[in-house]
Amino acid sequence: MFEHLTAQKPDGILMLMQMYREDPREAKVDLGVGVYKDATGNTPVMRAIKAAEQKLWEVQDTKSYVGLAGAPDFNDAMVNLVLGNTVPRSSVNSVATPGGTGAVRQAFELIRMANADARIFVSNPTWPNHLSILDYLGMEKFMYRYFDDETRGVDFDGMIADLKTAKKGDVILLHGCCHNPTGANLTGPQWDEVIKVLNDTGATPMIDIAYQGFGDGLDADAAGTRAVAAAVPECLIAASCSKNFGIYRERTGILMLVANGTDKAIAQGTLNFLNRQNYSFPPDHGARLVTMILNDDALRTDWMAELEEMRTGMLDLRERLAKELEQRSGSNRFGFIAQHRGMFSRLGAAPELVVKMREDSGIYMVGDSRMNIAGLNAETVPVLADAIVKAGV
Ligand SMILES: Cc1ncc(COP(=O)(O)O)c(C=O)c1O
Repeated sequence: MFEHLTAQKPDGILMLMQMYREDPREAKVDLGVGVYKDATGNTPVMRAIKAAEQKLWEVQDTKSYVGLAGAPDFNDAMVNLVLGNTVPRSSVNSVATPGGTGAVRQAFELIRMANADARIFVSNPTWPNHLSILDYLGMEKFMYRYFDDETRGVDFDGMIADLKTAKKGDVILLHGCCHNPTGANLTGPQWDEVIKVLNDTGATPMIDIAYQGFGDGLDADAAGTRAVAAAVPECLIAASCSKNFGIYRERTGILMLVANGTDKAIAQGTLNFLNRQNYSFPPDHGARLVTMILNDDALRTDWMAELEEMRTGMLDLRERLAKELEQRSGSNRFGFIAQHRGMFSRLGAAPELVVKMREDSGIYMVGDSRMNIAGLNAETVPVLADAIVKAGV
């Protein structure tokens, strides 16, 4: 029977990683894959994670199953981290999931269970996995305008006009912060306008927050998510710990269903059911480390300090790059790079220029010209600036 399988579309980013590895040139710059890197190109294990792992090794005396929804103290700690004190806990239901991707997948399945005809409004562009999971699940998607190719900021008028066509029973998927792949984000007043559209249309928001702490800080990055959760009758939040705790391979995430009008036993029970059907108990190792860090003053302080170093380091790289480009181009047209937030910026270069930069200068960025800013360091910023100007972007 397996002879009937057909080839799957190759993953563009994984192909790019392969090309980078096979490129024999010394001077090459990897801005492709979406993991944080320090100035030496390493993706570090954060200090607080190391300390928590050591402690865990000493105190953990069983690896037996935890709970279907995950460990309650993990869920509580994450609900606090993402939502602060904006929403009454009685309205929050949650399950731990394998990474943010697991949370996104479970959220889509939950939506399909509740309304098989729901249309999912996704930003154009969005994280490609949103699209491929929706296609795989056979769910209808509607791309709303988001990125303005001219300004490299948010096309907010276009976005609002498109969101207004949503109706009750539809879902509007928003990036909580640090939009992937563009780096262009909503301002506070823009979040308020989106909330108004949500309430006017009755559409349900789903927020994917995978980079809390990478943009403007832990609380600032969650502000839009918190404002939405506090202002609408129901919403879904998919959060990832992969980036802000640097535990990519531990697969740690959480799905929250904030619902006021829903029977709590049914809401929580359905989340548990979905976990049971898909993978039964969610992974615990990463979740345990996150819980230990968030619930211990010293570990939490150190984690926040290191996260802040990472965040400000990326901001510094953004500013340097924008400045180098201003000097070389004699214009301020690359100023958007310093305005964007998070790990990514969409440069807005045509696909043939992306290829040209790779071939001529060894710069590896995703085909849509998404650059991982964390892939730069003080030495490679001028190299990239040269390549961008040389290619005629
Ligand atoms: C927008 C967005 N959502 C979710 C995720 C999920 O990440 P993970 O499954 O590794 O936690 C990512 C990771 O790249 C992302 O960029």
